[in-house]
Amino acid sequence: MTTQPSSLLHRSLLGDLELRNSAVMAPLTRARATNPGHVPNDLMRLYYQQRATAGLIISEGTWVSEDGQGWYGAPGLYTAEQVEGWKAITDAVHAEGGLIFAQLWHQGAVSLPEFFSDGRLPIAPSAVNPGQLVHGSNGLEMTVEPRAMTRDDIKKAIADFRHAAEMAKEAGFDGVQIQAGYVYLIQQFLHETTNLRTDEYGGSIENRARFLFDVLEAVLEVWPSHRVGVKTGPMMNEHGALKATESTLPTVEYVYKKLSGYNLSHLLVMRQQADLTGTPIAHLAGDGVLDHVLQHYSGNIIINTNVTIEHGQQLLDAGLVDGVAFGREFIANPDLVERIRLGAALNEQRPEGYYRAGPEGYTDYPRLID
Ligand SMILES: Cc1cc2nc3c(=O)[nH]c(=O)nc-3n(C[C@H](O)[C@H](O)[C@H](O)COP(=O)(O)O)c2cc1C
Repeated sequence: MTTQPSSLLHRSLLGDLELRNSAVMAPLTRARATNPGHVPNDLMRLYYQQRATAGLIISEGTWVSEDGQGWYGAPGLYTAEQVEGWKAITDAVHAEGGLIFAQLWHQGAVSLPEFFSDGRLPIAPSAVNPGQLVHGSNGLEMTVEPRAMTRDDIKKAIADFRHAAEMAKEAGFDGVQIQAGYVYLIQQFLHETTNLRTDEYGGSIENRARFLFDVLEAVLEVWPSHRVGVKTGPMMNEHGALKATESTLPTVEYVYKKLSGYNLSHLLVMRQQADLTGTPIAHLAGDGVLDHVLQHYSGNIIINTNVTIEHGQQLLDAGLVDGVAFGREFIANPDLVERIRLGAALNEQRPEGYYRAGPEGYTDYPRLID
């Protein structure tokens, strides 16, 4: 072990929050809230407490309402019981001197009828099957054609985000992050393939982005902008209906530019997860996505996905990002920050435990010093 100075260990300022280091724990669904009420539990408290030395924890995706469900064992943030469960977690993180944001999540069409008590169809901007695998109670299952949302459904979904933002405050979170990327409801609105609406929520880029900005405005009625982050950008995984199209770049550019006006806590950006060769976003491969964001967004940026410790340091040293989010490394290394400090080896990943219910592969990764 050698001691290495690292810019990841430097403080970072996100709005009025001073992070004690720049290593952010990425949002990570771990599917341990397998109880019928989707209530965060003691095991989850221990897991987050173990990782509280991160500069900032973004919680796993947490549903804004029953309609938002779609992953067996994920938690919610819309009932009093769930708030109580989360309160124990935020207290535990704060007791260790950490900070934690709640990721507000609505899965839209990336869900299954089995998640709803009456077996109803998941909702989405349009009746288009997004073609994604969903973690159901019996393993992975393909999505179905969802029900197109009515105007009232849209109003309710926006109100659900606002309500969950209020619940996050009650639960003691330090802020919230809106999940507006990857394959979920807000992305389904942004994407021309899954959004075929002919009203003011579909068609033009401005219309497809309207739902995101209505959600953001609703959340900003509850939290100041510097405590609200947004995760968005192209899907970066190239499968199903949410693959990049000719409209992907102009859409994200519009979104980045408009988000720049909000003085947000941060924008969380994912690098590629799949081979982008031959796609309309081929030039976003590697750090291309960051170059692109920097051209169109001004504000704090947290970069994520396949960023090594060394590369994260380089991006921080170059002043290109304000934080580096680590996902899988925080799963396997509860004391990741200490390991960065000491230049110590990282634990081996055990992916088979990512979504299993129980402590195995969850709270049993060893620390350097116990
Ligand atoms: C087990 C697991 C669960 C994840 N859950 C979420 C989630 O709830 N919300 C989200 O926005 N991203 C989620 N992601 C994506 C991660 O936040 C992150 O983008 C991804 O792991 C890439 O970062 P990494 O290379 O540092 O692991 C998840 C990834 C993994 C591996």
